Amino acid sequence: MRIDIITLLPKLLDSPLSHSIIKRAREAEVVEIVVHDLRDYSTDKHRNVDDYAFSGEAGMVMQIEPIDRAISRLKSERIYDEIIYTSPDGENFNQKIANELSTKQNIIILCGHYKGVDQRVRDHLISREISIGDYVLTGGELAAAVITDALTRLLPGAMSDESSALSDSFQDGLLSPEVYTRPAEYKGWKVPDVLLSGNTKKIEEWKLKNSLDRTKRLRPDMLGEED
Ligand code: ADE
Repeated sequence: MRIDIITLLPKLLDSPLSHSIIKRAREAEVVEIVVHDLRDYSTDKHRNVDDYAFSGEAGMVMQIEPIDRAISRLKSERIYDEIIYTSPDGENFNQKIANELSTKQNIIILCGHYKGVDQRVRDHLISREISIGDYVLTGGELAAAVITDALTRLLPGAMSDESSALSDSFQDGLLSPEVYTRPAEYKGWKVPDVLLSGNTKKIEEWKLKNSLDRTKRLRPDMLGEED
């Protein structure tokens, strides 16, 4: 999979996409992540890419021209399955969308900033708008990093133990069960006996019940129940 990220702040994306599973997935060429500086597509001598809103609204608006240039250049090189704009008023990102996007070949993520982009970008250049939650960030870079991280770990070959992506919270509509490791007792706090029993069937039953209990307690909405 290839993910192209268009941003005003390329450096902000360096660290989040350079560690752990994402780093290894990039090295193994499971994913290609390319970050583009939107200012490289400006024709302005000061590399400006924003201007005042015609409506007089306070705050700057990202102009369509550099964005169109950046996207057109990428589209001339390959076919994109989705061109995503990160915005607090997009559809709420969740595991279902992550699963769906992880099956795509090439995607572009355009990071919003300031007051956002000229509406014509949203009307004509973008295929999808995604929010990572009902709060406003200073820009879309962290949202792009979240989306890229969630997609990359799902790609075949990204994780050494692929079954662990399948047993994540949300993958089967439940939160994942609690986990424990050694020591079996610490300061008198004990690991549940069943997990030390070696009885695989009993352990599987415990895991399912624990998942259900946690989901009921922490996220009743996932079971179609009221809070
Ligand atoms: N840009 C600013 N806030 C955002 C959010 N919550 N999700 C996606 N992009 C954003």
